[in-house]
Formats: sequence, structure tokens, C-alpha cells
Amino acid sequence: MARNGKVTVVGAGFYGSTTAQRLAEYDIFDEVVLTDIVEGKPEGLALDLNQSRPIEGFETKVTGKTTGQAGEGYEVIAGSSIVVVTAGLPRKPGMSRMDLIGVNAKIVRSVTEQVVKHAPDAVLIVVSNPLDEMTALAARVSGFPVNRVIGQAGMLDTARFSYFVAERLGVPVGSVTTLTLGSHGDTMVPVPSACLVDGKPLSDMLSPAEVDQLVERTRNGGGEIVALLKTGSAYYAPSAAAARMARAVAEDAEEVMPVCTWVDGQYGISGVYLGVEAEIGATGVGRIVERDLTNPELAALRAAADAVRAKQADVASL
Ligand code: NAI
Ligand code: 2OP
Repeated sequence: MARNGKVTVVGAGFYGSTTAQRLAEYDIFDEVVLTDIVEGKPEGLALDLNQSRPIEGFETKVTGKTTGQAGEGYEVIAGSSIVVVTAGLPRKPGMSRMDLIGVNAKIVRSVTEQVVKHAPDAVLIVVSNPLDEMTALAARVSGFPVNRVIGQAGMLDTARFSYFVAERLGVPVGSVTTLTLGSHGDTMVPVPSACLVDGKPLSDMLSPAEVDQLVERTRNGGGEIVALLKTGSAYYAPSAAAARMARAVAEDAEEVMPVCTWVDGQYGISGVYLGVEAEIGATGVGRIVERDLTNPELAALRAAADAVRAKQADVASL
């Protein structure tokens, strides 16, 4: 099997370590690098992951490296074509993603500066929360072309929506197609008009009130898990989402995915990082795919853009 290149995951917490595991188990990279500021944590996790290789049967090497506050150790990421940024605090019960903005902005800024220095050609996939704002911040700090800075949220929110529909109807998840656009927060925009079950419109199977219930559960999908876990937030579905995006970049798949990207005129919206569908390939975002939305869906997407645009302007000074 042909393996190629190097991918880095910054932050070896729950999200980062599960992302590194998924990327390594794909067995398509030469090397997965995992970093963290907690002394020994990434090295220990990398050792553990490497010891799973004979059992799981993958040859991708996992390298763990502790990095210092002044960027010590970051040489290890040199040559990475993709960097996934998971560094940052997760939510606690009762917190909104926005409550993390101050502390996580400092972390994402410092991580991005090191990525620029050591992996200047990488495609940056940001997952730290609040997602839309942290993606905008990473884009601004990096100075990378906007296509090379992507946020992960829509893949996760869409997967949650699909799961809820499948569970409600008692059908395989594979027979369900759903979509969420907008922000990874209160102004998330689930798109019922794009939802199909075995190729048939969701509206043929559920009443508008039933669809609304699933939409609401999707919008609160992260909070529901935070409340159950009581400490930390979701990571299995989130890591699956980020790893699939990284894989689409590595394989130059040009796969259409809902991602947080720079919107410049699509849907009559400009100048904001927002969740829309886009082709993901070797250079990051290739083309934004605009679909027909109903009037209420379009209005909700424009409202989401207005809400996150204001926050994204504030984040520049953090
Ligand atoms: P966690 O607390 O398990 O891990 C965070 C890790 O970041 C810790 O190991 C910490 O030491 C590390 N870290 C902190 N500052 C760092 C720095 N400057 N450099 C390198 N590493 C640093 O949290 P978890 O669950 O892994 O979540 C990570 C982030 O992802 C959170 O902000 C969370 O809200 C976000 N998240 C985003 C989702 C999305 O859909 N976009 C979904 C789930 C979580
Ligand atoms: C999630 O949606 C907390 O953003 C995180 O699970």
C-alpha cells in the first residue's frame, strides 16, 4: 500500500488523540505527528498508538512531541502537508462554546504562529471552539490563502442530524442524507430541504413538527453530550469528522463536505468564515457549492453570517 506524507495534530487531548488514531489507522500517511504542551503526554500516546500497529495492521508511524510555550519542539511538524489544530479548552456543563473565546484565542494564535514558521505550506484544519471564530483567527494570524484554512463543524453537525433521523425512523444511517450549514453554535442552520431517506424527501416521512424536534436536538447536539459527560465534550464523532477532512486533502479527493470556509459572494453573503458546502482537495477548499435553499433556510444562513461576522471581527484583537 502506498503511504505518503506527514500530518500533524496539535493538542493531544480527547479530540486530538482520537483524530491521530483515526489518521494513523487509515494507513495512508508515512507519519502522524501529535503534539501537546503537557510534558510527556504526546510521547506516551504515540508510544501506545504505535504498539497498536501490529494488532490493527497499519504501518503509519506516530510521533509524539511535547512543545514549549516559546515554540520549542515545533521542528517536528516540518514538512506536514496538513495540520489539525485541536489545542484548546473544551466546554463544561452550562458553558457555551463562546465562553471559551478568550482563552482559546490565545492558544490558537500561538499554535498558528508556530505552524506558519515550521509548516508554511500546510492546509490548516481548525477544530478548537468557538469554531467559526477560531477558524477566522487562524486565517488572519497565518496569512495563508483562505482556501488553506478550514474549520470543522458541518461534518459533525450533519452526522448528528443524520444519526437522529436514522434513529427516529429506525433505518440504517447509510440510507440517510442530511445537511447543516451556518455556524457551529446557536445559529447552526440544519437544512431539511436537503434531507433524503432512501432518496425520498424527509418531509414525506416526518411531519414539520417532528423534523423541528430533530433540528433542535442537532443544534444542541454538542451540549447534550457535555451535559452527560459532565467533564469535557464529544470526541468520537468530532474526530471522525476532522480525520475525514484531512483524508480528503491528503487524497486530493475534491469531495463535497460541509465545512467552515471563507464565503465571498455565495448565497449573497460576503466577508465571513461560515459553514457551507465545499470541495475539499489537496489545496484545501477548491470550490464552494451553492445549492437551492428554501426562503427560510436562506434567511437563517444570512442571519448566521451576520452573527458570526461581528464576533469574527472582535477576535482579531484577542
Ligand atoms: P481536551 O481538554 O481533552 O484537550 C485539549 C488539549 O489541548 C489538552 O491536552 C491541552 O494540554 C492541549 N493544549 C492546550 N494548549 C495548548 C497549546 N498551546 N499547544 C498544544 N496543545 C495545547 O479537549 P478536547 O476534547 O480534545 O477538545 C479540544 C477542542 O476542540 C476544544 O476547544 C473543544 O471545544 C473543541 N471541539 C470542537 C468541536 C468541533 O466540532 N469543532 C467538537 C468537539 C470539541
Ligand atoms: C461539540 O459540538 C463541543 O463543539 C463541541 O461537540
